[in-house]
Amino acid sequence: MKVFEEMGRLLQEQWRRAHHDEQAFPDIAAGVLETLAPYQNFEPMEPLSWLYKARLLPRQLTIHPGFGQPPLTVFSDHRFVIDLYYWIDGTTDIHQHGFSGAFQVLHGGSIHGHYRWTEERRINSRMAFGELALHSINELRVGDIQRIPSGRSYIHSLFHLDRPSVTCVVRTLNDPEAGPQYAYRKPGLAVDALYENVHLAKVEQSLSLLVELSHPMRSQLISELISNNDLYTTYVVFLRLVKLTRRLEVLDEFWDVAIRTHGALAERLIPVFKETVRQSALFGKRELVKEPEHRYFLALLLNVDDVEGILRMVRQRYPGEEPVELIMKWVTTLCGPADAAQAGDTLGIPLDEPMLVVFRQMLLGCPPPQIIERLKETFEIEDEEREVPHLMELMSALRTSPVFRPLFSSWPPSDTSKRHQG
Ligand SMILES: [Fe+2]
Repeated sequence: MKVFEEMGRLLQEQWRRAHHDEQAFPDIAAGVLETLAPYQNFEPMEPLSWLYKARLLPRQLTIHPGFGQPPLTVFSDHRFVIDLYYWIDGTTDIHQHGFSGAFQVLHGGSIHGHYRWTEERRINSRMAFGELALHSINELRVGDIQRIPSGRSYIHSLFHLDRPSVTCVVRTLNDPEAGPQYAYRKPGLAVDALYENVHLAKVEQSLSLLVELSHPMRSQLISELISNNDLYTTYVVFLRLVKLTRRLEVLDEFWDVAIRTHGALAERLIPVFKETVRQSALFGKRELVKEPEHRYFLALLLNVDDVEGILRMVRQRYPGEEPVELIMKWVTTLCGPADAAQAGDTLGIPLDEPMLVVFRQMLLGCPPPQIIERLKETFEIEDEEREVPHLMELMSALRTSPVFRPLFSSWPPSDTSKRHQG
């Protein structure tokens, strides 16, 4: 723990010399992390041992759970903090920062996505529509350092692969010039993640009551709420309803009133909520999947939207291996029969042998007729007239499956060329 004290003193000294310029802080923080290398000899349990014995804690950045499992401030002055963040199953939203700093991976590792945002339609200072594009994705390992400039130049997300993963974040308390700390939702919405409003907070709390009670007035009350308030309120209400029920269908009866009230802007929320539900389905799987390579696969499904990108990332991490075969190995384990899955990692989506053959052929980019032929060669198909439409339905279900959709984003292929032979 001495290293964090030393880091604090060094940061105080170096930042003072830069006149406490927030823009200088990421380089200073990264330099200090590099010089003192807190990842070396880091034992994940040591800070907990320190915490349990402490009589006097540094002033904590937050006492609330939320970001970090747990977050722990190990050095604090009135200008910056040094925090440790533990993660078990944590995944961050895609977000920017209202502060400046840098972080280093002390233990474990993560998939790190870096995004670009182009604003198309500002709603207000707390909400905007635009284009969110994945700029790069890479793996962060122990010792790796990332600078955190405040604002839109650094929009990122993390998916932690190991349990636990621990990062050390050196950061200013806040940067007055940074603007709101936006969280981004695919395909293209930015919202102020830290905005607090008493009316909205009470509305959100009351929705739990309405959903829990299934009261006959529920629909009417929520419809009135939407028609009497702004688009941001509609977004917050819809998000709460989806989070409470984990079902996209809960919104079906309210889209009409939202579109009547807010026009095309409300329609732009439809794909946002489709993706929100897909992501929460994947988040739900995360705690069932513990092997780092399986979590890596899950992270790719969550962060990369197209199959070529996923294959590229697999090739990068496992050079010399055939990415399609590796993915099939993971899918076979993660979607094995229920009794086998109980013994280990599972996605809770059982796929039998014929389905795995279909999966593989789709992943290879084969068109439907070729897949049917392959199945005929491998399995006995007795009643073709009945079986073929059923198989077509299965392919369509895989293509639109919330979990696997990125793998089949360009399926069926527009031409007959296969992606890989095999
Ligand atoms: Fe961040």
